[in-house]
Amino acid sequence: MIKFREMKPDDLTHIARVNVDTFRATHQGIVPDRLMNDLSYETAEHRLERMLGKTGRDSAIFVADHDGSVVGYAMGGLAREDLTPFLGELYGIYIVPAYHGKGIGRQLVALVVKHLHTQGLHSMFVWVFSDNVPARRFYEALGGHVVHQRRIFLAEHEVSETAYGWSTMDIVLG
Ligand SMILES: CC(C)(COP(=O)(O)OP(=O)(O)OC[C@H]1O[C@@H](n2cnc3c(N)ncnc32)[C@H](O)[C@@H]1OP(=O)(O)O)[C@@H](O)C(=O)NCCC(=O)NCCS
Repeated sequence: MIKFREMKPDDLTHIARVNVDTFRATHQGIVPDRLMNDLSYETAEHRLERMLGKTGRDSAIFVADHDGSVVGYAMGGLAREDLTPFLGELYGIYIVPAYHGKGIGRQLVALVVKHLHTQGLHSMFVWVFSDNVPARRFYEALGGHVVHQRRIFLAEHEVSETAYGWSTMDIVLG
Protein backbone atom coordinates (compact mmCIF):
# COMPACT_ATOMS: atom_id res chain seq x y z
CA MET A 1 0.00 0.00 0.00
CA ILE A 2 1.22 3.51 -0.77
CA LYS A 3 1.29 5.96 2.13
CA PHE A 4 1.92 9.69 1.82
CA ARG A 5 3.78 11.39 4.64
CA GLU A 6 6.32 14.08 5.46
CA MET A 7 9.90 12.81 5.24
CA LYS A 8 11.83 11.57 8.26
CA PRO A 9 15.58 12.31 8.57
CA ASP A 10 16.56 8.76 7.64
CA ASP A 11 14.57 9.00 4.37
CA LEU A 12 17.07 11.46 2.91
CA THR A 13 19.39 8.79 1.49
CA HIS A 14 16.45 7.11 -0.29
CA ILE A 15 15.10 10.44 -1.53
CA ALA A 16 18.53 11.22 -3.03
CA ARG A 17 18.48 7.87 -4.85
CA VAL A 18 15.00 8.53 -6.26
CA ASN A 19 16.21 11.99 -7.34
CA VAL A 20 19.31 10.78 -9.19
CA ASP A 21 17.78 7.65 -10.77
CA THR A 22 14.64 9.45 -11.93
CA PHE A 23 16.54 12.55 -13.09
CA ARG A 24 18.71 10.28 -15.27
CA ALA A 25 15.74 8.33 -16.65
CA THR A 26 13.82 11.54 -17.44
CA HIS A 27 16.44 13.89 -18.82
CA GLN A 28 18.48 11.72 -21.20
CA GLY A 29 18.98 13.85 -24.33
CA ILE A 30 17.57 16.93 -22.58
CA VAL A 31 20.53 17.87 -20.38
CA PRO A 32 24.20 17.39 -21.37
CA ASP A 33 25.73 13.94 -20.75
CA ARG A 34 28.49 15.51 -18.67
CA LEU A 35 25.95 16.71 -16.14
CA MET A 36 24.36 13.23 -16.04
CA ASN A 37 27.78 11.63 -15.49
CA ASP A 38 28.55 14.02 -12.64
CA LEU A 39 25.40 13.10 -10.68
CA SER A 40 25.94 11.10 -7.52
CA TYR A 41 23.76 9.96 -4.64
CA GLU A 42 26.08 11.63 -2.13
CA THR A 43 26.04 15.01 -3.88
CA ALA A 44 22.26 14.85 -4.25
CA GLU A 45 21.85 14.06 -0.55
CA HIS A 46 24.08 16.96 0.48
CA ARG A 47 22.25 19.34 -1.88
CA LEU A 48 18.85 18.32 -0.46
CA GLU A 49 20.18 18.66 3.08
CA ARG A 50 21.52 22.14 2.31
CA MET A 51 18.22 23.16 0.71
CA LEU A 52 16.27 22.02 3.76
CA GLY A 53 18.70 23.85 6.05
CA LYS A 54 18.82 27.02 4.00
CA THR A 55 15.12 27.43 3.37
CA GLY A 56 14.24 26.59 6.98
CA ARG A 57 10.79 25.85 8.30
CA ASP A 58 8.95 27.09 5.22
CA SER A 59 10.20 24.17 3.11
CA ALA A 60 9.16 20.54 3.33
CA ILE A 61 9.57 17.23 1.56
CA PHE A 62 6.71 14.75 1.26
CA VAL A 63 7.24 11.15 0.21
CA ALA A 64 5.23 8.34 -1.32
CA ASP A 65 6.15 5.26 0.70
CA HIS A 66 5.33 1.83 -0.80
CA ASP A 67 5.54 -0.76 1.95
CA GLY A 68 8.57 0.99 3.49
CA SER A 69 10.31 2.06 0.23
CA VAL A 70 10.38 5.67 -0.90
CA VAL A 71 9.10 5.62 -4.52
CA GLY A 72 8.63 9.35 -4.99
CA TYR A 73 8.92 12.72 -3.34
CA ALA A 74 8.01 16.38 -3.80
CA MET A 75 9.67 19.37 -2.17
CA GLY A 76 8.43 22.94 -1.88
CA GLY A 77 8.70 26.12 0.11
CA LEU A 78 9.29 29.85 -0.19
CA ALA A 79 10.19 30.98 -3.72
CA ARG A 80 13.97 30.99 -4.14
CA GLU A 81 13.82 33.88 -6.62
CA ASP A 82 11.50 36.75 -7.42
CA LEU A 83 8.88 35.54 -9.86
CA THR A 84 6.21 38.04 -8.85
CA PRO A 85 3.38 37.46 -8.08
CA PHE A 86 4.18 33.84 -7.15
CA LEU A 87 5.24 33.40 -3.52
CA GLY A 88 5.81 29.67 -3.13
CA GLU A 89 7.82 27.25 -5.25
CA LEU A 90 7.61 23.57 -6.02
CA TYR A 91 11.36 22.86 -5.90
CA GLY A 92 11.16 19.38 -7.35
CA ILE A 93 9.06 16.26 -7.81
CA TYR A 94 10.49 12.87 -8.73
CA ILE A 95 8.68 9.54 -8.85
CA VAL A 96 10.38 6.33 -10.00
CA PRO A 97 9.13 5.47 -13.51
CA ALA A 98 7.31 2.24 -12.53
CA TYR A 99 4.98 4.35 -10.39
CA HIS A 100 4.08 7.03 -12.95
CA GLY A 101 0.48 7.58 -14.00
CA LYS A 102 -1.06 6.27 -10.78
CA GLY A 103 -2.03 9.61 -9.24
CA ILE A 104 1.03 9.77 -6.96
CA GLY A 105 2.29 13.05 -8.47
CA ARG A 106 -1.05 14.76 -7.98
CA GLN A 107 -1.19 13.65 -4.34
CA LEU A 108 2.39 14.78 -3.63
CA VAL A 109 1.80 18.22 -5.18
CA ALA A 110 -1.42 18.53 -3.12
CA LEU A 111 0.62 17.90 0.06
CA VAL A 112 3.14 20.59 -0.94
CA VAL A 113 0.28 23.00 -1.70
CA LYS A 114 -1.32 22.35 1.70
CA HIS A 115 2.04 22.95 3.35
CA LEU A 116 2.55 26.21 1.43
CA HIS A 117 -0.90 27.37 2.60
CA THR A 118 0.16 26.78 6.22
CA GLN A 119 3.16 29.07 5.55
CA GLY A 120 0.91 31.84 4.15
CA LEU A 121 2.08 31.10 0.59
CA HIS A 122 -1.03 30.94 -1.58
CA SER A 123 0.56 30.86 -5.04
CA MET A 124 3.50 28.97 -6.53
CA PHE A 125 5.60 28.22 -9.58
CA VAL A 126 7.83 25.40 -10.76
CA TRP A 127 10.68 25.37 -13.31
CA VAL A 128 10.81 22.49 -15.78
CA PHE A 129 13.15 21.78 -18.69
CA SER A 130 11.13 22.88 -21.72
CA ASP A 131 11.80 19.56 -23.50
CA ASN A 132 10.43 17.52 -20.59
CA VAL A 133 7.05 17.22 -22.27
CA PRO A 134 5.48 14.58 -19.94
CA ALA A 135 6.15 16.79 -16.90
CA ARG A 136 4.73 19.82 -18.73
CA ARG A 137 1.52 17.87 -19.49
CA PHE A 138 1.37 16.92 -15.80
CA TYR A 139 1.64 20.57 -14.64
CA GLU A 140 -0.98 21.57 -17.21
CA ALA A 141 -3.31 18.79 -15.96
CA LEU A 142 -2.88 20.32 -12.48
CA GLY A 143 -3.99 23.74 -13.77
CA GLY A 144 -0.57 25.39 -14.16
CA HIS A 145 0.04 28.04 -16.84
CA VAL A 146 3.29 28.99 -18.58
CA VAL A 147 4.48 32.20 -16.89
CA HIS A 148 8.19 32.48 -17.82
CA GLN A 149 10.81 31.03 -20.11
CA ARG A 150 14.58 31.33 -19.95
CA ARG A 151 17.72 29.82 -21.38
CA ILE A 152 20.43 28.66 -19.02
CA PHE A 153 23.87 27.13 -19.51
CA LEU A 154 24.52 23.63 -18.15
CA ALA A 155 27.96 22.12 -18.70
CA GLU A 156 28.48 24.71 -21.48
CA HIS A 157 25.26 23.75 -23.29
CA GLU A 158 22.28 26.06 -23.62
CA VAL A 159 19.07 24.55 -22.26
CA SER A 160 15.58 26.03 -22.22
CA GLU A 161 13.48 26.11 -19.06
CA THR A 162 9.81 26.97 -18.64
CA ALA A 163 8.08 28.09 -15.45
CA TYR A 164 4.49 27.09 -14.72
CA GLY A 165 2.57 29.22 -12.24
CA TRP A 166 -0.55 28.89 -10.13
CA SER A 167 -1.95 32.21 -8.88
CA THR A 168 -4.42 30.27 -6.77
CA MET A 169 -3.76 26.68 -5.82
CA ASP A 170 -7.19 25.36 -4.88
CA ILE A 171 -7.44 23.82 -8.35
CA VAL A 172 -4.61 21.43 -7.38
CA LEU A 173 -6.55 20.26 -4.33
CA GLY A 174 -9.57 19.36 -6.50
C1 LIG B 1 5.85 14.24 -13.89
C2 LIG B 1 5.44 13.31 -12.71
C3 LIG B 1 5.82 13.98 -11.38
C4 LIG B 1 3.93 13.09 -12.78
O1 LIG B 1 3.55 12.26 -11.70
P1 LIG B 1 2.51 11.04 -11.93
O2 LIG B 1 2.29 10.36 -10.65
O3 LIG B 1 3.04 10.23 -13.07
O4 LIG B 1 1.23 11.85 -12.40
P2 LIG B 1 -0.31 11.56 -11.94
O5 LIG B 1 -0.61 10.13 -12.19
O6 LIG B 1 -0.51 12.08 -10.57
O7 LIG B 1 -1.10 12.44 -12.99
C5 LIG B 1 -1.81 13.62 -12.63
C6 LIG B 1 -2.44 14.19 -13.86
O8 LIG B 1 -1.41 14.54 -14.82
C7 LIG B 1 -1.67 13.89 -16.05
N1 LIG B 1 -0.39 13.43 -16.60
C8 LIG B 1 0.64 12.90 -15.90
N2 LIG B 1 1.63 12.57 -16.77
C9 LIG B 1 1.17 12.88 -18.00
C10 LIG B 1 1.71 12.74 -19.32
N3 LIG B 1 2.91 12.22 -19.51
N4 LIG B 1 0.97 13.16 -20.38
C11 LIG B 1 -0.25 13.70 -20.20
N5 LIG B 1 -0.84 13.84 -18.97
C12 LIG B 1 -0.12 13.44 -17.90
C13 LIG B 1 -2.49 12.68 -15.71
O9 LIG B 1 -3.26 12.25 -16.82
C14 LIG B 1 -3.34 13.17 -14.57
O10 LIG B 1 -4.44 13.91 -15.08
P3 LIG B 1 -5.90 13.74 -14.39
O11 LIG B 1 -5.68 13.79 -12.89
O12 LIG B 1 -6.62 14.94 -14.92
O13 LIG B 1 -6.39 12.44 -14.86
C15 LIG B 1 6.15 11.93 -12.80
O14 LIG B 1 5.77 11.33 -13.99
C16 LIG B 1 7.65 12.00 -12.69
O15 LIG B 1 8.21 11.88 -11.61
N6 LIG B 1 8.33 12.16 -13.85
C17 LIG B 1 9.79 12.10 -13.89
C18 LIG B 1 10.44 13.25 -13.13
C19 LIG B 1 10.03 14.60 -13.65
O16 LIG B 1 9.91 14.87 -14.84
N7 LIG B 1 9.79 15.49 -12.68
C20 LIG B 1 9.45 16.87 -12.95
C21 LIG B 1 10.70 17.66 -13.05
S1 LIG B 1 10.34 19.40 -13.13
